[in-house]
Amino acid sequence: MIRNIVKSQQFNREFLAELFSIAREMEVIIKSGGSNMLAHKVMATLFYEPSTRTRLSFESAMRRLGGEVISTENAREFSSASKGETLEDTIRIVEGYADVIVIRHYESGAAERAAEIATIPIINAGDGAGQHPTQSLLDLYTIQKELGRIDGLSIAMVGDLANGRTARSLSYLLGKYDKITLYFVAPEVVKMKQDIKTYLKRHKVQFYEESNLREVSAKVDVIYQTRIQKERFGERIEDYEKARGKYIVNKKLLEVMKRKSIILHPLPRVDEIAPEVDADPRAAYFRQAQNGLYIRMALLKMLLLG
Ligand code: NCD
Repeated sequence: MIRNIVKSQQFNREFLAELFSIAREMEVIIKSGGSNMLAHKVMATLFYEPSTRTRLSFESAMRRLGGEVISTENAREFSSASKGETLEDTIRIVEGYADVIVIRHYESGAAERAAEIATIPIINAGDGAGQHPTQSLLDLYTIQKELGRIDGLSIAMVGDLANGRTARSLSYLLGKYDKITLYFVAPEVVKMKQDIKTYLKRHKVQFYEESNLREVSAKVDVIYQTRIQKERFGERIEDYEKARGKYIVNKKLLEVMKRKSIILHPLPRVDEIAPEVDADPRAAYFRQAQNGLYIRMALLKMLLLG
């Protein structure tokens, strides 16, 4: 049984299959008006970094299953962290008020630290440039739903692969599948880090570092585009400017992509996918965001009801 959701390496295929099957049930539950299976359960969301989709889809997921939500957005300024309270102390307090804590923090490893001391389940909703495991679960669920399989696929990850926690988590997750080919297409200053590459080698995943997005796009089943993570560049504005705008998915790229392929993006996008792409059936990013609700409902059910 899984107690906390902290990083994508922790899952196995059996868990993933069960999660996806519960997520499919959740789609049916939503259509029939929701459920009360989590009545009297309370979820706390503690967000120290900005979010739209992740926080709102978790909160919606809890409410759709009849549960209650307590929430602090902008916890860096509005919670006692601004008075100097440690994360550990905050967790000790909040666990007395809730049955599960969803945390987004600016430090890599924060959710894992919280999970070490917490007596209730902790869900990592993004830890700095570390990981975003629930995003990778909904990404994978979307791939399975859209293309009908995961084994054997070729996937291009594009954009900020050094700081993008979603691409990192998705890479770990793909390491669990067979005959995956990955193409990393990143500007020089934000290439995929060594820890992921070492992991992929150990798990016998073929990967290539490429610089020509057009060539890569013609061979892959999935383009996973990501935002250049401006907030992680600090003073290095020049590096940010160098990386931004280098790889853009636009109508011209659609021309070379396979007919049966999809474009994903964890969102928010800035200018790395042109709006002209949205109407193409291969543009799956809004459906992907919707799937986040079903996956998070399924996770809450698994963690709170076993
Ligand atoms: C991502 C994140 O916060 O890591 N957003 C999300 O949760 N869907 C991606 C991003 O901010 O670029």
